[in-house]
Parts: sequence; structure tokens; C-alpha cells
Amino acid sequence: MRFRVRPVGRLAGTAEVPGDKSISHRAALLGALAEGPTEIHGYLEAEDGLRTIAAVQALGAEVTRKGPGHYRIGGAGLRGLQEPADVIDCGNSGTTARLLLGVLAGQPSWTMLTGDESLRRRPMGRVTAPLGGMGATIVGRAEATRLPLAIKGLRPLRAIAHASPLASAQVKSAVLLAGLYADGPVSVTEPAPSRDHSERMLRQFGARVASDGRTVTLTPGDLHGTTVHVPGDISSAAFLLVAAAMVGDARVTVARVGVNPTRTGILDVLRAMGAQIAAEPSGPGDDGEPAASLRLGTAALRATSVGGALVPRLIDEIPALAVAAAAADGTTTIGDAAELRVKESDRLAALARELAKMGVQVEERADGMAIPGPQRFRGARVSSGGDHRMAMALTVAGLVADGETVVEDTACVATSFPGFAETLNALAGAPAVVVEDE
Ligand code: S3P
Repeated sequence: MRFRVRPVGRLAGTAEVPGDKSISHRAALLGALAEGPTEIHGYLEAEDGLRTIAAVQALGAEVTRKGPGHYRIGGAGLRGLQEPADVIDCGNSGTTARLLLGVLAGQPSWTMLTGDESLRRRPMGRVTAPLGGMGATIVGRAEATRLPLAIKGLRPLRAIAHASPLASAQVKSAVLLAGLYADGPVSVTEPAPSRDHSERMLRQFGARVASDGRTVTLTPGDLHGTTVHVPGDISSAAFLLVAAAMVGDARVTVARVGVNPTRTGILDVLRAMGAQIAAEPSGPGDDGEPAASLRLGTAALRATSVGGALVPRLIDEIPALAVAAAAADGTTTIGDAAELRVKESDRLAALARELAKMGVQVEERADGMAIPGPQRFRGARVSSGGDHRMAMALTVAGLVADGETVVEDTACVATSFPGFAETLNALAGAPAVVVEDE
């Protein structure tokens, strides 16, 4: 699939984005581990979200789809999951693989996990090392650091205090999920706070979780089914927000977006760059995750610098941010972001390579980028490299380019934002993004 993108002069109206990917994965997993049923509203019905649904089904949890984004998970309880009959394929979803490994560390049978070509390249040692330290047996490629992996758990697992070298919510969550099966309290300390959806949701399911600065501690105990309302994904909204900031005549509202402060780095940075973003709190917000309608329009963007503790708060938004930076006045620097090299693709290399095709120079650095501006985007033929966020960032660049842009390899957009092209077209009031089968 490819997107043929035409420049637009105007974006207007209200859009919705699909359910938050991180929160959706957690709701399905905790629902499966809970006593009693869980109702999930607003679940991300995109490839990544559906991988986690399929995984909990393979482990014996009963899943009923009651309507669009509405699922009922019949909780199996901490000790009620079963040995899956086949390898679990996590597709493109790193969160499915890493969080599931945490759950599986507490299951007494063998489970095998694999993923697509991209996911099989991504590092798993960051979770298999602490889970092995807790007593799980894990074998697989590259000394059990790459998928496919086979894991056999232990009950109880040994409680650990894990000092994570990375600010990674996936690592933190894997250890906390395994901690449900530990013989005492388990803690994770991170160099900087990562997204805290697991902590919030574990509490909502009745777990004892204490957060103290960069350390979170879970005391093992049963989970109880509940109702989860998944807000829209700010990581998907980011593409619409950046497009609105850049297109000449724009006034866009993105409704009901999750604005958990561990995720709102993109709003802080766009504001620092000169965008005026109005955030109006929206309901229901009764389950620990704040949401808001975000409204913004065209902005005269200026350069900024991004690094340190801000990076985990906007790690997935850097492809979109890089596009905004190229249009901003001055040189934007992004540092402390070497993690971008091990996402769905090496996003630092991909941004430098693909934006260069559009005539935009990006200086690639070991842990970030320097992006001088303002630069003009030239319509060109570019490729996502199979990375959904690259596909969407390049599409946004195409909206403000001189001439037509063709983004190749865009089927991957379905991993997180299936209606992306249609959503942009509705805001543009014209077919700005034409979807073509290759
Ligand atoms: C996620 C955590 C982040 C993020 C990913 C989703 C999560 O990854 O990039 O898209 O849901 O926990 P890391 O934990 O690898 O930083």
C-alpha cells in the first residue's frame, strides 16, 4: 500500500483518534489476569492491540467483542491461564512481546513467542535478564535476547529490586507483571520516569503499587476485574497536531485524547515552539487516566531543544516532531534519544534518509538529531521502511510539501491508526491522502 499525498492549504474541524495503544495492551492483559470480568471501552482495534487480544485468548482468557472497541475479558485469575497450543505471534508489537514475557514468567508451562521481521530484530534482553533473575527460564535467539523466545515460568518468582538502565515502561511493566507472582515486593528504579499506565491500571485492578520518585514497588496480590475507558492515543493525535501547526490555515480539535503527564511531552514541546494548544478536560476520567480535547491552529514555529527526562515523555512522537522542527525557525536539537534506533525501525537513520529525499537536511547523531530550519519540503517518493510512525510523519511532511509526495509501504499504519488517511482527508475537506494498493 502507498499514500499519494497532495499539499493542503487548510485543515479544519474535529477529529478523533483510536484508543491509546499502551493503555489498551494493559487493559487486555490485566483483564485476563484478574478475578472476574473486565469491560474495556475504546480499545485500540488496530493490529498491535489485536495482537494482545489474540495472545490472552491463546492463554485461555475468554474474550467477547461486544461492539466497536468494546470488549469483555473473562478474567482467568492469576493462576487460571493455560498453556497455549501454538506459538504466540506478537506481530509488530514490542509492547505485546515484552509485557507478555512478564506475565509468562509467572506461568508454570512453556510458551513460545515470535514476531514480524522488525520485532525479531528488537532487543528483548532488557526484559529477559530481569525475568531470568526472578527465576523464569528463557531460551531463544542471541542468548535469549531476540525473538523467537521460549519461556517457562516459576511460582513463586524471586522478588527483585531492578535498577533498569533505561527509562522504559515496557521493562518496568514486565517486571511488575512478573511481580504479581513473586514471593515478596518487587521494585523497579528507572533513570527517568517512563509512562505510568501500568501503575495506574494495576491500582485500578486492586493491586498494591507504591510510586516514589523514580522507583515503583508492587506487593503481590490478586487483581479484580473492573471497567476501563481507554482515551484516544496522544501518539496518534501527535500527527494531527503537528499537521495543524504546519498547514497554512488550520484550526483543528482532537477530541478525548489521553493527557497522562508522562505522555504529554509533545504538547510541552509544541508550545515551546510557539503553538497555542488549548486543552479542555473531557470525561469520563474516573479510572485514573486523564483525557482532554486539544485544539490548536497554524503556528509560527521556532526551534527548540529536546533531551533528558523529556525524552521518555515524547519518545514515540519524535518522528512527527522532526517534521515540525524542519519547518521551524532555527536549529532544533534532539538528544538522549538513542532508543529511537531500536524502535519499529532505526528512526534516527530513517528520518535523516527519508527527509533528505524531500530536500530536508537532518544531521543524524549517535543519540539524536540536529534539524536546521526553516526548510522547505519538496514532494518526493519516500518510504516508511515498514514503520507506522515514519509513514505518518512523512505523510504530514507531504501535506506541506511543494508538489506531490508518494509514501511507500504504508500498510503498517494499521498497527496503530487504521483510519489515519480518512481522518486527515476529513480535516482537509478534500482527498489530500489517496490510498493506493501496490
Ligand atoms: C510503551 C513504551 C515505550 C513506547 C512504546 C510503548 C509501552 O517503549 O515507545 O511505543 O506501552 O509501555 P519503551 O518501554 O521501550 O521505552
